[in-house]
Amino acid sequence: MNSKALLNTNELAEDHSLGFNLEGDVNLFAVKKDGKIYLYKNSCPHLGIELEWVEHQFLDASNALIQCSTHGAQFIIESGECVSGPCMGQALSRIDFHIDDKGMLWIT
Ligand code: FES
Repeated sequence: MNSKALLNTNELAEDHSLGFNLEGDVNLFAVKKDGKIYLYKNSCPHLGIELEWVEHQFLDASNALIQCSTHGAQFIIESGECVSGPCMGQALSRIDFHIDDKGMLWIT
């Protein structure tokens, strides 16, 4: 299976998020929190649409939760679980990845 480097994780600031577009029109986003990276499919479980209105902004005002800009659903950064809003109890789709010794993030 082919792998593709998505980003240099050293360039993603703490409490920030970044959106990506992969071949085949798959949209993902990454969040860095407490030095750890979380990677999800950019698709709200409520309507299956993208989460952000402003490019690369996937977090709420306090950077504590992932937030959908359409109806305000909020998700735990570490698990993707929806804890508030119309898709409560559902979760974002997590994407498997690894980070090499140079800090490059790869998905499989
Ligand atoms: S589309 Fe995300 S909360 Fe409705």
